[in-house]
Amino acid sequence: MIVGVPRETFPGERRVAIVPAVLPTLAKAGLQVVLEAGAGVEAGYPDADYVAKGAKILPDRAEVFRAADIITQVLCYGSNDRTGKADLPLFHRDQVLVGFLRPLGSVETITEIAAKGVTSFSVELMPRTTRAQSMDALSSMATISGYKAVLIAADTLPKIFPMLTTAAGTITPARVLIIGCGVAGLQAIATARRLGAVVSAYDLRPAVKEQVQSLGGRFVELAIEAKDAQDERGYARAQGEDFYRRQRELLGKVVAESDVVITTAVIPGKTAPVLVTKEMVAGMAPGSVIVDLASERGGNCELTKAGEKISVNGITIIGWFNLASTVPYHASQMYARNLTAFLVHLVKDGKLQLNTADEIIRDTLLTQSGEVVNARLREFFKLPMLATKGGT
Ligand code: NAI
Repeated sequence: MIVGVPRETFPGERRVAIVPAVLPTLAKAGLQVVLEAGAGVEAGYPDADYVAKGAKILPDRAEVFRAADIITQVLCYGSNDRTGKADLPLFHRDQVLVGFLRPLGSVETITEIAAKGVTSFSVELMPRTTRAQSMDALSSMATISGYKAVLIAADTLPKIFPMLTTAAGTITPARVLIIGCGVAGLQAIATARRLGAVVSAYDLRPAVKEQVQSLGGRFVELAIEAKDAQDERGYARAQGEDFYRRQRELLGKVVAESDVVITTAVIPGKTAPVLVTKEMVAGMAPGSVIVDLASERGGNCELTKAGEKISVNGITIIGWFNLASTVPYHASQMYARNLTAFLVHLVKDGKLQLNTADEIIRDTLLTQSGEVVNARLREFFKLPMLATKGGT
């Protein structure tokens, strides 16, 4: 089977879905790669490196789509709401698509992909299980984002992070607060600690306390308890407005004492909760920095402007998104390894194994034979359940 790797077209996107190092593993599984010329250049992978590992380079994007049985992308139509639609006419029936499709975003987009007869898999829906860990692209990208968020904060803060005892006196360490200790938050804690900051962290899921402490962070305990904090998939559950109000009141003091606040709190399929209000921002010292990793989902800070860096009374609020794309070499490497593990799982003896009894296939499969077949999605968008096997 042929795996096609088109160049990413979302403005500013620098990652590529497949890197040369994974080609031998794909070849062993009977998968040959065709690459749109220059697709890996911005991530640091020239065409020649792909050719050396057995890939074929095609100059024309349409040719890649024509030749491929499986299209691999980072941001495909769905998550790429700017330029992704231009690829729609290039797909052919029963072609497989694997990438970030933002499945809980727009049902119209997913329906358009279904109507092309494409068999699409959304990496966002990968189960958070030990078996699927090597395929978990959401975690890989969150790791990179958490790391980069701290570097951006450190670069913006008019202070240094570590404590220094020098002939010119002692410098106290920066105080960093991380709100939301999922994959990105935990990596942010580790990175801020490596830079020498004093780190506090808070999450409504009490289960993360030990993880925070093992990374050298102080877990902030608030005198409120979330109801059923965690769902069966391990994600935080949305809470009532009373809870969020009380949470903001209690967090106010910790936020005011912090030089840097990094927020990562999201709830799948919902707008992110506001955890830092404009009053809380006003309580911070001038020069302080907020990096809001939930900006694309509405933001955890009331003042965040998605995609922008703003300054309010001397406090900088950064709402840039797609941070993983700013570290394209390693983000692509991790993503390519995730996709390769998935493709090797999906293709056996040169044939697609669409076994929906397998949780990894069932959960990630979005569209097939003209239909949106994913049960979670149909439920989310209140589409009637399908009688066929994929929808039950
Ligand atoms: P996420 O990106 O969905 O959310 C970030 C964090 O924000 C979560 O820890 C969440 O609890 C927290 N949060 C949400 N609302 C909040 C609020 N009001 N106040 C404070 N914190 C709030 O999280 P991510 O990184 O996708 O992880 C979700 C779950 O999946 C976690 O339980 C994680 O441990 C688990 N996981 C399991 C894996 C596996 O078993 N293979 C791999 C990766 C993650």
